[in-house]
Amino acid sequence: MKIQDKILELKKKKNAVILVHNYQIGEVQDIADLLGDSLDLSKRAQSTTADIIVFCGVHFMAEIAKILSPDKMVLLPDENAGCPLADMASPEELKKLKASHPDAVVVAYVNTSAQIKAQADICCTSANAINVISKIEKGKEIIFVPDQWLGAYVAKKTNRELILWSGFCPTHMRIIPEVIAEKKKKYPEACVILHPECREDSLWLADEIFGTGGMLKCVKESNKKEFIIGTELGIIYRLKKENPEKEFYPAAELAICPNMKLTTLEKVLWSLEEEVHEIQISKEISPKASVAIEKMLAIK
Ligand code: 13P
Repeated sequence: MKIQDKILELKKKKNAVILVHNYQIGEVQDIADLLGDSLDLSKRAQSTTADIIVFCGVHFMAEIAKILSPDKMVLLPDENAGCPLADMASPEELKKLKASHPDAVVVAYVNTSAQIKAQADICCTSANAINVISKIEKGKEIIFVPDQWLGAYVAKKTNRELILWSGFCPTHMRIIPEVIAEKKKKYPEACVILHPECREDSLWLADEIFGTGGMLKCVKESNKKEFIIGTELGIIYRLKKENPEKEFYPAAELAICPNMKLTTLEKVLWSLEEEVHEIQISKEISPKASVAIEKMLAIK
């Protein structure tokens, strides 16, 4: 029996659902009940009727699923699949920053721990950050945590001043202007699409700036035939599968997130068999974090 069939069989038996982020390896993408960006996956985690959610992504994503569905079992197939960007925001430091800006609205990018979300007023993903910020009352101070580049991009797009944290995604930091410029020279007809976690001087070279969900939509709707993609390389598998007539070139070959690559089919099967690694969130933190996530999901 093929490993994919074993997973399918066990999934049915245990009434489980498999949620997969766009950066996962191809064979894991192929067994997804839902393949998507951070926002799609949060929505699905909120509405699923399954008893078990197997989250093929990184820790903060599985945490969101657990916060939104506290009565379900949420499993992360590899417990080491963390997010260095999320780790850059410490709850103690945020407490201090909030104390020096007591009236500020705190917006937490979803790439944060549950402890950070519990201190935030509202969350955002790359898909809705502009919308979330523009809905905040004019004149209000806004703390944006932890991604400085997404924060700077959103500040510019919304014409708002944000108090930025100094965090960054090490994978997106590898997408530097020099390598993008080389690719543009090599593929002059290609449309350059970058993720807003890329640094500002890289974003200057973009034709389009989108999170992973926006990239997929943009490529599908575009008349262009060639694309230079500036985000984690896992998404290229899905882009090619959904757009076989189009060509995709990574903006930077080094943009590989080691955490996203930890999940394999073997670990997914093992996770379902042994019901590991179960996400637990303290009863104090979870309801507070849930307020900020639900507020984001309520925004249209
Ligand atoms: P998306 O919400 O664009 O899928 O991004 C997820 C992420 O973690 C980027 O580093």
